[in-house]
Amino acid sequence: MKKILISRRLPDPVLEAANARFDVTLRDDTSPMTPVEMVKALGEFDGILPTLGDMFTSDVFASAPNPRAKILANFGVGYNHIDLVAAKEAGLVVTNTPGAVTDATADIALTLMLMSARRAAEGERLVRSGTWQGWHPTQMLGLHMSGKILGVIGMGRIGKAIAKRAHFGFGMDVIFYNRSHVADTEVPAGQLDRVSDVMAAADIVVVAVPGSPATHHLIDAQALGMMQPHAHLINISRGDVVDEAALISALKSNQIGGAGLDVYEHEPQVPDALRALDNVTLLPHLGTAALEVRTDMGHMAVGNLVDFFDGKPSRNEI
Ligand code: 8YV
Repeated sequence: MKKILISRRLPDPVLEAANARFDVTLRDDTSPMTPVEMVKALGEFDGILPTLGDMFTSDVFASAPNPRAKILANFGVGYNHIDLVAAKEAGLVVTNTPGAVTDATADIALTLMLMSARRAAEGERLVRSGTWQGWHPTQMLGLHMSGKILGVIGMGRIGKAIAKRAHFGFGMDVIFYNRSHVADTEVPAGQLDRVSDVMAAADIVVVAVPGSPATHHLIDAQALGMMQPHAHLINISRGDVVDEAALISALKSNQIGGAGLDVYEHEPQVPDALRALDNVTLLPHLGTAALEVRTDMGHMAVGNLVDFFDGKPSRNEI
């Protein structure tokens, strides 16, 4: 049997499926793998099932020449924690779990859109504080989201799923920016040429691009400066897609209406300055935090390992 390392505990049905096909070592620790652990694993296992936080950098591959491992079957769609070029040069195949995360991540985007627009987290804190004095007509007025303009940055699977929920569920008009032309948006939507065009026209902007060197600080001070003063920014992609310091100053100065974040530039570090603000909703990367979704992601990752070792073409090779 092929020796496989699974870097975090996964739902039981996934572990059972993996144990049925492989000699599995489960790293029963919720923290990310250390460089020493990753180098050791590349030498000792035929395949590894890593996830967010396991930073397989070029240094890690450089420290593990002629690795025994031939595949990294990532748990998750985002793979900006893996240096793809270095992995391939080291002879490894890398796979991910697209599709399995789409609906859950889109749901968290809608959650943050509504929480930010309607100041739900702020309201929840007020009630929990015990200082709520009761309803009155101008209390905690937010942005009425229904019928507004949604701007999507990155019209991939997740971007389209968000647009569909917003358009068919909340009657929102959708505009978007995407690096390449998007023929089938699956929802009535207008593609604009520049990120700044979307930032200027939208009432709510959702960032749904993959994390990569190309999207690092895609949403910077200049892009934030294009937003309307009542508009909200939502990020469910990767933290470093947004210049967090620029976002903090835009929120502090009420240059924009608010923000909703599920990801952070130096996750899990969340700056005090951000946590001190009332006009931002902060979630702990809950994008796919549902048992059935994590189970599907796990089965897809194990399936990628099975395909690979059965010599079948991989369905999810990056
Ligand atoms: C995952 C995500 O839960 O899939 C992704 O890229 O960001 C989340 O949905 C988590 O990152 C594990 O990969």
